[in-house]
Amino acid sequence: MQPFNSTYDDDPGHYDRLRDCWLNRRREKFIAGRLEAYQLPPDSLVLEIGSGTGWLLNRLGVRFPRLRFAGVEPIAGYVAYAQKNAPPNVRYLASTLERAEALAEQPRAVLSNDVLHHVPSYEGALRAAGRLAALGCRWLAIEPNCKNLYTFVKQATGYGEQNFWPRRFRRLARREGWRLDGKGHLFLVPPSVDQPPRWMQAIERLGERVPFLAGGVYLEFSFGPATGRSHGEQDRRHHEGRHHVAGPVLHSEDDGVVRERVAVGQHPDTV
Ligand SMILES: C[S@@+](CC[C@H](N)C(=O)[O-])C[C@H]1O[C@@H](n2cnc3c(N)ncnc32)[C@H](O)[C@@H]1O
Repeated sequence: MQPFNSTYDDDPGHYDRLRDCWLNRRREKFIAGRLEAYQLPPDSLVLEIGSGTGWLLNRLGVRFPRLRFAGVEPIAGYVAYAQKNAPPNVRYLASTLERAEALAEQPRAVLSNDVLHHVPSYEGALRAAGRLAALGCRWLAIEPNCKNLYTFVKQATGYGEQNFWPRRFRRLARREGWRLDGKGHLFLVPPSVDQPPRWMQAIERLGERVPFLAGGVYLEFSFGPATGRSHGEQDRRHHEGRHHVAGPVLHSEDDGVVRERVAVGQHPDTV
């Protein structure tokens, strides 16, 4: 049987320790920054697809006590491990995304971190996420960057791994009602590094902007019929407090990541 994750399906403790690295701490910071930008009403539900051992979601639960979080994860041992360490506003469901039953309430934000390259089909995952999500739901996905040759080879040859194809995912997402709000590249320091020296952190800040160097990509979507103005546009106006811009925009926020946002009316695939 194809593993859901990779070598560590039977060893949640080991996998959780591996996830405790600089890369994941930066992911957490980036995701937390975006969650803040979404300005979700108190008590909103945030769903993480492929929540693994709960490394990320349990931290987000502590950071955002006024939000509630649910993780859907097919490896039962990971779910038990995650639940054991969960704060009161975080719970877990043992299932694949595709088989997950409707939750008691619809999430207003979906997160997936390093997961979409594991799912059997993008269409299946997109459709399943659409069945669960509230109208206007945001989706922040972070995946390995296939434009980086080292990452590409690692994903192509690693046990249980695959590459993630953002353009294909974006095209299918549009068909399933997920509109692209933003996308970009991020991360340079590999997961083997726990605490990079300052000079390495500085190089990461510069290098992660370059598509062929970055280790990761992110995509941001919102779900539902067109409302005339994308959330990407709303966010940009919120952050910049300025005028309409007619092209992809680069801007840097507190987490230091430079982002491209998609302008209203612009075809996402042209960015
Ligand atoms: C690389 S791990 C990432 C785990 C976690 N997001 C993190 O960053 O620590 C990928 C996770 O996705 C889960 N996964 C694989 N296929 C899935 C599916 N169809 N639905 C939900 N989760 C899935 C795996 O079991 C695994 O825990």
